[in-house]
Amino acid sequence: MRKKDMSIFFCLLIILATIIPVIGNINGQTPEQDIGQSGRIDWIQLPEPTPVDMILEQSICRRMSFHSGFPGTPLSDVELSTILWAAYGATPTGGRTIYSPNGTYSTTIYVIRSDATYIYVPSNHSLFLWKTGNYLYLGQSTGAPVKLGLVWNQSIAADEKAAMAEIGMIAQNVYFDANALNLAALTTGMSVNDLYELDLPTNEKPEIIMHVGRPPSAYDFYYNPLPPSNLPGVVNNTLTLAEAVNTRQIAYSWNNTGLSVLEQSQILWASYGTSYLYDDINNKRHRTPPSAINIYPFKIYMANQTGVYQYAPTTHSISLIVSGDKRELIQDAIDPGNISVASAPMIILPFWDKNIGSQTYLLWWWYESGAILHNILLESTALNLGANIVSVITDQNALRTALGLSSQTNLVCFHVAMTGHTNGGTQNHPPTDPIVTGPSNGKRLVLYNYTIVSTDPDADEVYYFADWADGTNSGWVGPYSSSETTVLSHAWAQSGSYIVKIKAKDTKNLESNWTTIDMMIGGPVLDITIKGGVGINTAIKNTGTATATNVSWTVFCDGGFIIPRQITGKINSIDVEKTYSLRPLIFGLGRSTITVTVVADDGVNAEGVVNGFFLMLIVVGVK
Ligand SMILES: Cc1cc2nc3c(=O)[nH]c(=O)nc-3n(C[C@H](O)[C@H](O)[C@H](O)COP(=O)(O)O)c2cc1C
Repeated sequence: MRKKDMSIFFCLLIILATIIPVIGNINGQTPEQDIGQSGRIDWIQLPEPTPVDMILEQSICRRMSFHSGFPGTPLSDVELSTILWAAYGATPTGGRTIYSPNGTYSTTIYVIRSDATYIYVPSNHSLFLWKTGNYLYLGQSTGAPVKLGLVWNQSIAADEKAAMAEIGMIAQNVYFDANALNLAALTTGMSVNDLYELDLPTNEKPEIIMHVGRPPSAYDFYYNPLPPSNLPGVVNNTLTLAEAVNTRQIAYSWNNTGLSVLEQSQILWASYGTSYLYDDINNKRHRTPPSAINIYPFKIYMANQTGVYQYAPTTHSISLIVSGDKRELIQDAIDPGNISVASAPMIILPFWDKNIGSQTYLLWWWYESGAILHNILLESTALNLGANIVSVITDQNALRTALGLSSQTNLVCFHVAMTGHTNGGTQNHPPTDPIVTGPSNGKRLVLYNYTIVSTDPDADEVYYFADWADGTNSGWVGPYSSSETTVLSHAWAQSGSYIVKIKAKDTKNLESNWTTIDMMIGGPVLDITIKGGVGINTAIKNTGTATATNVSWTVFCDGGFIIPRQITGKINSIDVEKTYSLRPLIFGLGRSTITVTVVADDGVNAEGVVNGFFLMLIVVGVK
């Protein structure tokens, strides 16, 4: 029976040993092409994504869905890398390619190819093997050589609607980058539950599948803008798609400079407008976001200092709903958090019209609201404006009333977007990891200096914090100007090896990573090991780098019937790596707490404590 238990135990161990490295790889292992024992590639480090240099407005105009008949020609690694980076990657300043208002990124992207299905790992821009085999048959049949399973991870964010808005943003970037690279893309909401065949973890729910491939024939767009209206025609700015994604400007307050009609026109167009390109293959003009079943159930309202206006995407025009500044009323109807909503010169409010888009597809409408917001954020960046989003609407009635829409209870707002010129209140970035220079070895009780410098991308002042690894730290010290060198000093009381950690934070409390530096303080280090049972067998080992001299020891016994309770002695020296075995002459027995302390020259000291039942007879000895 015992033998059987042991074999089950060993089997479990073997299973765990097999499973743990695979799971651990996702976060821990260096992503390289790692051919596992089975001969398959567990990690693929993606190549650098191509910076897509198409002008932002042009790439928004080229956004369109390609529904079926992909030739199946695989994407190159660089193409796939570029699409995945745009979808969910990390930007050079430490941000992400899409904006999560509360910083929770809850999407897992399953990259389905003919060879296998991988998970995209944004932190190191790599693919992690999830499942071998060809699962391209999952979802709508389009022939696409790559399908992206966009899956909500419920453990990261509990709100499925917010997760769908995030997926809408991801999908916009996939569309933009694919079309700019002359590839084709499609969002599908049908048959997404097929993704369960990939053995998704129980906390993940499939939401959308995106199809990416090559169009069978080249795009045939020609410039044919909508006829003039009361808004100016759409113009191209100078920012490229990649630049807009990389430098997105998030603002929390705005100065009172009003936006020009052209600026307002561009933002409204980006949110829900119509392309200035005519698609000669599909005989249509595409809209800036996609819409499920081509329904487009949103109504777009805009509030500025002068009133509230409704945007008509098909004519690219606005009509006045109510005059007067309603921005304070809007702010009162939503939960603005730390955003000064009423200071924004332009507030954009997309409302889902329940009479147009069925409640059945509610989550898809959340996706579309996310896509609208993403376009507003990017176009604001292209206009050198800062924007932000509020996603908690506390009083839909009050919001409709503020906009002069009180009777239209069919209208529901999911998000409010703000944009305008800022007072430098744009997205904050953490300071760089501190560069630390200083000694890596020294002596006890000597003060050592560490020169520290970090640069804040927003030129904010910085503070530094040093963890000296001996149970003490510097606390936050500063502020210092960005890139200004400072010196922190420390002396260690005990010999030993220390890993010192230093980090920086800016004035908005955004922290860098730790920078570590090793410090070896030379000299004797005494370690005590006590074993109970028959007698007290104590080993005092010098694990340091110099001989310990004049080592005084004390053994104190608390409890039991033991005499004497305390005994002391002296050892002349203990050499490096040598162990002194101490077996003190004490008599008695019983449950006792034994404390052994040693103090040597220069204040080198150590203590060992043990509790237990002891039978004491014994003698003093040295080894
Ligand atoms: C949330 C959502 C779900 C969609 N689901 C599907 C789908 O299941 N199948 C499909 O062929 N297209 C689907 N589409 C794509 C739309 O049909 C397409 O966006 C719309 O017809 C507008 O065409 P365009 O994107 O080419 O401008 C979906 C789009 C969205 C936004």
